[in-house]
Order: sequence, then C-alpha cells, then structure tokens
Amino acid sequence: MSLIEQLEAVLAEALATIPGAADAATVEALKVKYVGRRGAVSELMRGLGGLSAEERPVVGQTANRVKAEIDTALAAAADRLAASQAAALPPLDVTLPGRRRRLGHKHPISLVMDDAVAVLRRMGFIVAEGPEIETIWHNFDALNTPPDHPSREPKDTFYFPDGRILRTQTSPVQIRVMEKQQPPVRIVCPGRVYRRDTPDATHGMNFHQIEGLYVDRNVSLADLKGTLAAFAAEMLGPGTKIRFRPHFFPFTEPSVECDFSCIMCGGKGCRVCKHSGWLEIAGAGMVNPKVFKAVNYDPEIWTGYAFGMGIERIAMIRYAIPDIRFLYENDLRFLQQF
Ligand code: PHE
Repeated sequence: MSLIEQLEAVLAEALATIPGAADAATVEALKVKYVGRRGAVSELMRGLGGLSAEERPVVGQTANRVKAEIDTALAAAADRLAASQAAALPPLDVTLPGRRRRLGHKHPISLVMDDAVAVLRRMGFIVAEGPEIETIWHNFDALNTPPDHPSREPKDTFYFPDGRILRTQTSPVQIRVMEKQQPPVRIVCPGRVYRRDTPDATHGMNFHQIEGLYVDRNVSLADLKGTLAAFAAEMLGPGTKIRFRPHFFPFTEPSVECDFSCIMCGGKGCRVCKHSGWLEIAGAGMVNPKVFKAVNYDPEIWTGYAFGMGIERIAMIRYAIPDIRFLYENDLRFLQQF
C-alpha cells in the first residue's frame, strides 16, 4: 500500500470509530491513537523522507487533510457527549418559588447607637470620632482629671508599654475636636470604650458610649436639660421625663447625673428601676473652664455643656435584656429577636 492509501485507511477507520465513542475518555483515547504525537498519522509521516521531491508535497497535503477531518470528527463527538450530558440533568422548573435569602440584620447595640446618633444629628450635632488607643493627655489630663484619680490606675485602665491607654470614655474626643477647631462646636461622638471591670450582668471590659458636646456663647444648663429631654423622648418614647441629680465629674462644673423616667412602669416603680421610677442614663454638666484652658479656648467668652452615656445600658432597658453578656455572646437565638 502506498503512503496515501495507508493515510486514507487510517481516516476511514477513525471516521468509523469516533462517532461511536460512549464517553469523553474514549474520545480522548481515540485522539491519542490517531492524531496524537505518536499516533497513526504521525507514524506514517515518518516515511515522508524516503519519498521523491514530487511525491512529498502530495502526501503531506493528504496527511494534513486526514488530520483535519479526524479533528473535526473528534470535536463533533465531544460536542455530542456534552449535549447529552446536559440533557440528562433534571429540567429547570421555572414555576418553583424562589429560594428566600436570609438577610443579616443590625445588632441591638448598633440599633441603639444608630438611633441615638440620628436623633442628635437631627438636632444639629455633627459626628466626630477619635482613636480607641488614646493618650493620657486626651483621656485624663486635658479633662482635668487629677494625677491621683483612681480611674487612672492600671487596675481600672488598660495601659500599653508606651504609656498610651485604651480610652476609658468617649470624652477625649471632645479634646481632640476642640484642639483642632474654634467654637462654635456641636459634636456627637459614638464609640467603644474600655475599662478593667470584672464582667458581670451589668459590666463588660469594653462597652459603647455616646458623647455630646456643645460650645458657644451663652450656653446654659437649661440648654443641656432641653437637649436631653428631647433626646429621652425620642429614644424611649414621647412620655419619657428626665431629672437632674447633682454629681461630680472633673471635666464639668456643675455636674449632674441625668435620669430618664422608667419605661417599664412609667415611673410607678418596678424591678427594672429598682422601685425608684427612674433610670440612671447619662453623666453631664457644663464644660469646666479648666478644660477650655487646656484646649486654648477663652473661658470668659465660651460656655458649653457635655454629656455622655452608655449604649448597652439603653439597649438593655429598651429591649428588656437582663444581662449585658447576651450582647456579646453572638448566640443566634438571641440576635434573631431584633
Ligand atoms: N465621661 C463620663 C463617663 O464616662 C460621662 C460624661 C460625659 C460626664 C460628659 C459628663 C460629661 O462616665
């Protein structure tokens, strides 16, 4: 048999075999057998050298055509197998109801924080933020906290080797803003704070506060009271009343503690308010002139009020959560209720 006849014989055999391939592996094996690097066509081409110069191109062309036809047959077989595989899948039922995607939702701390920020922003406060790793100057000194104040002790405050601390309150943000900006200032600072407390039902080692600061000419305690009264009504409901009790903070003078009337009993007295009718919510007061001096504001010109409160505490009251630790355990049975 001439080389051309042999090539045609290979082609005939390949075209007779390939369409019958039952799976992709067989198609692959046939490819190797006929057109692979050591397949039938390649083997025959080795004889090309022994041909005359006239015969060589004719045989070469035949070889290329044979190879192309086998390739086409292989591709067709592969396509046919892929199509039948797709047909074997169950048909798509377009009438099936869609699969509901379970959306995540906000954590109760975020719910309360976002509400509190929104309420104060509507009153004209602008959000300000500061670092959680804070200097002693911003967290204590500039806030008129004496060097021997117990809250500075390593027993209560987390210290870094470089002398910085984890902020114990959001009040240092007041200092950072006033250092950068001239009055009037009206800011709200939401954020995480850290204290070395032993965790129990009402204490964690870190929690969240929201802080307000208003500095302008002729700001009075009445302005503070009006702001907190409006805030209380927005946060816990229209009937919520507030009261001030005298207190002490180094950075405000006078200082007050602000109670909100108990939302559980409406002020009649219950377990949540320990039968007093009132809930301790915020610390507040008029900005101490010494704080103004620390940030180079003239206390003869500027007056201001500041307040700060714990977000967890408000969340616990609002949603009747009996233990602060529920807020951090991330138990879905708890979280899915919000
Ligand atoms: N920083 C105080 C605290 O953490 C709260 C406070 C803020 C009091 C602003 C007065 C003014 O207890």
